[in-house]
Amino acid sequence: MTSVTLPSPKIPQTSADWLAYFEQNRYDLLTPPWNTPYFLTSEEKTAIAHSIQNFQLGEQSEGTNLMKAARVYVERSGDTAFLQAMKLFIGEEQRHARDLGNFMQCEGIPLREKHWSDRLFRRFRRGVNLEVALRVLLTAEIIATIYYKALQEATHSPLLQKICEQILKDEHQHLHFQVNHLRRLQEQRKPWQQKASNYLNYLFLMLTILVVWIDHYRVFLHSGYRLRDIYQHCDRLSKNLLKIT
Ligand SMILES: [Fe+2]
Ligand SMILES: [Fe+2]
Repeated sequence: MTSVTLPSPKIPQTSADWLAYFEQNRYDLLTPPWNTPYFLTSEEKTAIAHSIQNFQLGEQSEGTNLMKAARVYVERSGDTAFLQAMKLFIGEEQRHARDLGNFMQCEGIPLREKHWSDRLFRRFRRGVNLEVALRVLLTAEIIATIYYKALQEATHSPLLQKICEQILKDEHQHLHFQVNHLRRLQEQRKPWQQKASNYLNYLFLMLTILVVWIDHYRVFLHSGYRLRDIYQHCDRLSKNLLKIT
């Protein structure tokens, strides 16, 4: 296992900055080597197939609940740039699903249409306000930063490695997009209320790691990541992002 270090590009601040970032990012993509002659060994395929099927499914959400919550917020705040940025953000997640799906197709790994973990995450986001939707999303994004690192290291496929590199680059910015907006939503609250909701988010993350481990432990173990490593990574990253000690 190598330690997980994330790139640290400039972080946009306002919704207009985020919109400009997402617009530009469409032209700053890495080029995966789609014509690589490398194919997964059967050992590599066994390690990643079940897991990549579920993550690919999770990435392809149309963001219906999220957009509904964002629209309610924008009607109140008039922050239309946020809504546009959110649309492009969802587009990036769908690109992740597309790239993973194309890779799976090259490797003869069937796409999955349903899975209980995906249904669970969608249920959490149904009918909630923007803050809760962003917190559920942030939880998934924090775990994604170590998952895609493990997936990147799990095989010798240059194609999968490049796809994961692009996803990691995007997910790092997504974390800041969520946190940046969560801070804005919390501005009117008292400090103790902000702290309490950040702690609840932290607890939710700690529980979610267990659920993710049950479903994806093969990939993590294959790359040398133990459950403790995932907890340590997510603990450090979430405390840093949510400013909790
Ligand atoms: Fe993603
Ligand atoms: Fe993301």
